[in-house]
Amino acid sequence: MKRTRWDKKLGATALLLACGLITGVQAAPPSPAMLANACAGCHGTHGGSAGPAMPSLAGQSQVAIATAMKKFKSGERPSSIMGRIAKGYTEADFEALGTYFSEQKLVATVQTLDPKRVARGADLQVMQCSSCHLDDGREGLDDTPAVAGQWLPYLQMQMALYLEGQRKMPEKMAQRVKSLSTEDLESLLHFYASVK
Ligand code: HEC
Ligand code: HEC
Repeated sequence: MKRTRWDKKLGATALLLACGLITGVQAAPPSPAMLANACAGCHGTHGGSAGPAMPSLAGQSQVAIATAMKKFKSGERPSSIMGRIAKGYTEADFEALGTYFSEQKLVATVQTLDPKRVARGADLQVMQCSSCHLDDGREGLDDTPAVAGQWLPYLQMQMALYLEGQRKMPEKMAQRVKSLSTEDLESLLHFYASVK
């Protein structure tokens, strides 16, 4: 859907690189804001993601973003698109991008959720998830990503990848997740999606 725009950007980048080679002119290194332009079509220009398959990056910690990018690049974390994108950047770029998005303010997505599940999830997360997903999921311990206000379909997709063993959970998260019923897990995801 957003693919064509991305393809155009890739095309434009290739053209710029080619011009640089031909004229021998060395471009100044891009600023973090310029780097982040390549992400905005999907991850949002206003702090919220552009669609239900994509996470918001605004307010995520620098280390969470840089770690995710490294895992996409190495293939450790499965992806539909990020693996290909991450290959175009260096570790220094990941850190610059992480800092850029960590300083943005999250604008929570507007979505319809089941209030009963939200309430049940709010109770469950205290014991099950809050040791790493801090402040109702708005923050994360170390490289834990922010889950607050993310699209429910995105959270469901990532949970399915974990349960299928395609994406690897930290051991302590796996212990908790595996002890929960499908319904309770669903309630937890409703809760996190609801947080503003
Ligand atoms: C064409 C759309 C698209 C573009 C452009 C894009 N992303 Fe993504 N991003 C996604 C999708 C979709 C996911 C979910 C993983 C997947 O399936 O690839 C994702 C996931 C992520 C995650 C994981 C966040 C989390 O909560 O776990 C990070 C970090 C990320 N992208 C960073 C970036 C950065 C930095 C850029 C720009 C250099 C970028 N993305 C450009 C679509 C995009
Ligand atoms: C020991 C710390 C810890 C605990 C406890 C924990 N998590 Fe996580 N969680 C993480 C880390 C770290 C990641 C990122 C791991 C990776 O790279 O895939 C993560 C990722 C996630 C993601 C994917 C988010 C994204 O944007 O990619 C979801 C959803 C999630 N956790 C839900 C839960 C739920 C629900 C619970 C409670 C049952 C829970 N977690 C308990 C540390 C934890």
